[in-house]
Amino acid sequence: MQWKSTKETTTILLKTAMATEQPVPKTHRALVLTSRAEKPQVQTIPTPQVGPGSAVIRIIQAGVLSYHRDIYSESKERPYPFPLPLVTGVSAVGRIAAVGSDATSLKPGQLVFVDSYIHARDNPSVGFLSGIHEGYTSGSQTLMRGEWKDSTHAEYAKMPLENCHALDEDRILGSPDKGGLGYLVEELAALTKMAVAYGGLDDINLKAGETIIVAPATGAFGGAAVEVAVAMGARVIAMGRNLDVLKSIAARHERVDIVQMTGNLETELDSLRKFGNIDACYDISPPFAGQSTHLKSSILALRHGGRVSLMGGFRGDVPMPYSQIMHNNLLLRGKWMYDNTQMKALIKMVETGVLKLGERAGLKCAGKFVLEDSEAAFTKAENYPRASLVLIP
Ligand SMILES: NC(=O)c1ccc[n+]([C@@H]2O[C@H](COP(=O)([O-])OP(=O)(O)OC[C@H]3O[C@@H](n4cnc5c(N)ncnc54)[C@H](OP(=O)(O)O)[C@@H]3O)[C@@H](O)[C@H]2O)c1
Repeated sequence: MQWKSTKETTTILLKTAMATEQPVPKTHRALVLTSRAEKPQVQTIPTPQVGPGSAVIRIIQAGVLSYHRDIYSESKERPYPFPLPLVTGVSAVGRIAAVGSDATSLKPGQLVFVDSYIHARDNPSVGFLSGIHEGYTSGSQTLMRGEWKDSTHAEYAKMPLENCHALDEDRILGSPDKGGLGYLVEELAALTKMAVAYGGLDDINLKAGETIIVAPATGAFGGAAVEVAVAMGARVIAMGRNLDVLKSIAARHERVDIVQMTGNLETELDSLRKFGNIDACYDISPPFAGQSTHLKSSILALRHGGRVSLMGGFRGDVPMPYSQIMHNNLLLRGKWMYDNTQMKALIKMVETGVLKLGERAGLKCAGKFVLEDSEAAFTKAENYPRASLVLIP
């Protein structure tokens, strides 16, 4: 069953979640993957119990990634490691149902964004992605195989307190005649991709008035990076193969120009240099773009002292124009995800209205599906990679 995306259903969902906020039942429904050879199934399992340092959240909606099916199948595209059986998931929105005895600001009933990037408390450089990837260190594996194993495609999820970001509900979801921004709750799903973009853009200290190349800009995370960079005050040169999509992105913004990827380094470089001084570039290439010329042309187009954020999914080595990087004092900065401070800063940008979400950012929610229809949700997500989709428990 697919939910209708209206204000009315949003209100019902929010109220339902509030009404069932307490007490936490002994069992709940969750989407469970037991083997990669089989599809995940909805099962009734024990509800996670709250303890010190954690919160149990009544999930209102949890995100669906365009590659969720790949991750949970035997597909060779994304052989991400994680323990089985697994309650699937990613970042979500929900209401706090219960908090550990050491919680000092989060309270039951509060609306929160549940961030799926979980860090070790005794070593912040160790992290894993709830529902997605256990990482490659013994520390990250300890986290995902133990205390924080299960994710958010469920009625309830247990998360570290610091992964529950309180949202100003009146401001974000409230009606504009009462000072609210009037978003639908499912539009908050776009935060997942925008946080990744902000992680890289903030790391290279992107400033208002600067010019940045985002490449490729036509995909899910690249599209989010364009929106975030514009909200940070930058002028964006969106690079991509698909001219129609590029034009539709540029049509929404005064400060977005476009350059088509042609596969020819010289033509790409000529087109980029027409924009004068370019301060930075943000790469979010997929694994299969290894032969593309866009990363090299972007780097060569940068001004002296320019910055490069590397967030793409390349698996092998990528050749670099070493001499130009050295002579031009370029800074190369890799980044996996984002940190907690960046997540909070991003939420502030939404609450102040600087950063637009959902349809207003061209990142429409393409559908809401019940847990039992996860297969339909995964299929739709594959077909609409730029859009957000959510599962409703
Ligand atoms: N560092 C991190 O923390 C982090 C976090 C999330 C994701 N990622 C990485 O980001 C990558 C992109 O993810 P996504 O979800 O945005 O993917 P996506 O939605 O599938 O978009 C892929 C983008 O790459 C372009 N592309 C595909 N093949 C290409 C080629 N051969 N040459 C040039 N461009 C090509 C596509 O352009 P067309 O529109 O022309 O097809 C599209 O713009 C993934 O590999 C993922 O691993 C990294």
